[in-house]
Amino acid sequence: MELKGKKILITAGPTQEAIDPVRYISNHSSGKMGYAIAEALHNQGADVIVVSGPVSISTSIPSDKIELIRSADEMLAACRNYFSEIDVAIFAAAVADYKPAFVNSSKIKKESEPFTINLIPNPDIALEFSKVKTQQQVSIGFALETDDLIANGRKKLLKKKFNYIILNSPHESGSGFGYDTNQIKIMNCDGHLKDFQLKSKQEVAADIINECLVNSTLVE
Ligand code: PMT
Repeated sequence: MELKGKKILITAGPTQEAIDPVRYISNHSSGKMGYAIAEALHNQGADVIVVSGPVSISTSIPSDKIELIRSADEMLAACRNYFSEIDVAIFAAAVADYKPAFVNSSKIKKESEPFTINLIPNPDIALEFSKVKTQQQVSIGFALETDDLIANGRKKLLKKKFNYIILNSPHESGSGFGYDTNQIKIMNCDGHLKDFQLKSKQEVAADIINECLVNSTLVE
């Protein structure tokens, strides 16, 4: 695939799910992986749009190409606007699977009794894209698994109709959340796996782009 001029949506970073005006549920995603991919694509002439959760990253991507959101609901609303016009979607964000069923409008007071938060499922942005995705559009997902990385990754690839899924494990040292490095396996839609060494997230981004887009025969 020639990247110049291709419209590519990248989700990056964590989402934050409000409990009350001062507290939220979230995860350890720094956004480094998603932004590294977006910067590499931008440098190769692709027309990127980054939909990003709250991160502290300095980036060369122009600010009008970044949409900042907080929650999974906001991430879905922002991404939906691009679903019909993109050539490629890359879902690198760590989206909270659940959100509080009820958001308190004022700060919850500390009591001596145990406190329970009722959680309900969040929308799944990659799954929503899979429902409207055309044959020509390429969808690339990620999976971070503590157990059964390959089997669980394959299930996610099939369920969300990814053309490729990038598997990374928090058990590998220097891999996953927060690090400047990552160690990945790329699985294609036939289940074929390719292993990569521990590398900087910039080098990992280049591997993903070469394997899944530039040298892929999915879209000519
Ligand atoms: O941000 P960094 O600190 O650099 O870390 C990078 C990373 C570890 C966050 C990244 O490499 C990564 O693995 N992101 C996906 C994390 C994950 O756990 O995904 P998942 O297994 O929950 O979801 C599978 C896929 O569906 C992912 O592509 C995810 O973006 C997408 N998804 C998941 C849930 C949801 N509600 N909406 C989604 O779009």
